[in-house]
Amino acid sequence: MKSLNGLYQSGDWKGEKHVPVIHAPESVKAGEEVEVKVVIGEEIPHPNTLEHYISWIKVYYHPEGAKFPVEIGNYDFSAHGESDLLTEPYIVTRFKANKPGTILASSYCNIHGLWENSVELKVEG
Ligand SMILES: [Fe+2]
Repeated sequence: MKSLNGLYQSGDWKGEKHVPVIHAPESVKAGEEVEVKVVIGEEIPHPNTLEHYISWIKVYYHPEGAKFPVEIGNYDFSAHGESDLLTEPYIVTRFKANKPGTILASSYCNIHGLWENSVELKVEG
């Protein structure tokens, strides 16, 4: 069976415009709100035209020691192209965590496929 794992691309977002850039604090207190911003093309802008655009971003949290990640949000830019409107691949969300873990983001370019990135979050009890 083929796996999606091998189809996700990544790299240094400073040199590759498709890699989701994740802005989040390095450390929070248990139960404190964590604000996460995810942007595609922060250093090198990604084309944002009718024919070439970012279709969606997803954000997950994988608490340390947990078997599965939690999907924090799924952001579909489904209005892209409606009435000449172009959506921007930029989202902000918040969540509260009690355990340290990994914030993961994935995204999809309609021409260049699947991309991912992650950052660690320390949670102090
Ligand atoms: Fe692209």
